[in-house]
This record gives sequence, C-alpha cells and structure tokens, in this order.
Amino acid sequence: VGALMSTKPPKPVVAQDKNFQPVEVQSWVQASKGQPDLVIGLRGDPYYLLPGQDGGAIRNFALRAECTHLGCLANWNRVVNKFVCPCHGSEYDAQGSVIKGPAPKSLALAHVELTDSQKVRLSAWSEEDFRDGTEPWWA
Ligand code: FES
Repeated sequence: VGALMSTKPPKPVVAQDKNFQPVEVQSWVQASKGQPDLVIGLRGDPYYLLPGQDGGAIRNFALRAECTHLGCLANWNRVVNKFVCPCHGSEYDAQGSVIKGPAPKSLALAHVELTDSQKVRLSAWSEEDFRDGTEPWWA
C-alpha cells in the first residue's frame, strides 16, 4: 500500500527480549507464566509469543502487536482474555482475530519454530490466514 512498505517478505529472525537477548523457549515459558508476552520480532517489530496448548511450550504462530486501526500497541488483558488497544478500544481474541472495531483486520501472523539450540525463531507468514481463510493482508 504505502510507498514506505517493503515488498519483500521479512527475513526470519530469532526473537529478542527487551534487552536484545535471544529468546530461549524454556526461559520464555517461565517468564511469561502462561500469558502472551512481547518480544522483538520480524523487522524489529513487537510480536506476542503465545503460550502453548495441550502441554506444548509455545504456539507455532506469533501475533504482531500493532493494532490494525492506527498502529498503537495492543495490550494483552489477562482478565478478559483479549488484546485490547488503548487508543480507540479495538479488541482481538487470544488468537488475534478482531472482535471489536474500529480495527478493520486481525493482528498479523508470523510462524514460530525452535532452532536446534531451543531459541524462538520467527518467519514470515505468507499463507492463508488460518483464522478466517483469507489471504494474509500483511504479506
Ligand atoms: Fe488501535 Fe485505534 S489504533 S483502536
């Protein structure tokens, strides 16, 4: 859309914590205490890693934290189990699907996998959005 947007898919990166250290999965599990937690991800953008389900340590997708309305950082609210944007009140469910506007779209996805040394690696999600079957608007 905008001329400032890169058209190339972002390069895979190892997620970094707020001190720019690589995120190791077991440390992340302990620190995040079963809640979505922010890391530095693709293109240096903030991403939420998500707690695993059914005994898994971490979900195999991450959510870009940028609200799809005007780009504020959506906050995870553990009380209501949603991401809530502080700017104009948009809400997203725990998988990042938009459930209340003005945000027009769901949070962008990235793939999550572990490296051989158990670091959390993010890579571009260019396939269909599994949440609603649409083409990925962010790719
Ligand atoms: Fe998030 Fe407006 S920027 S609701």
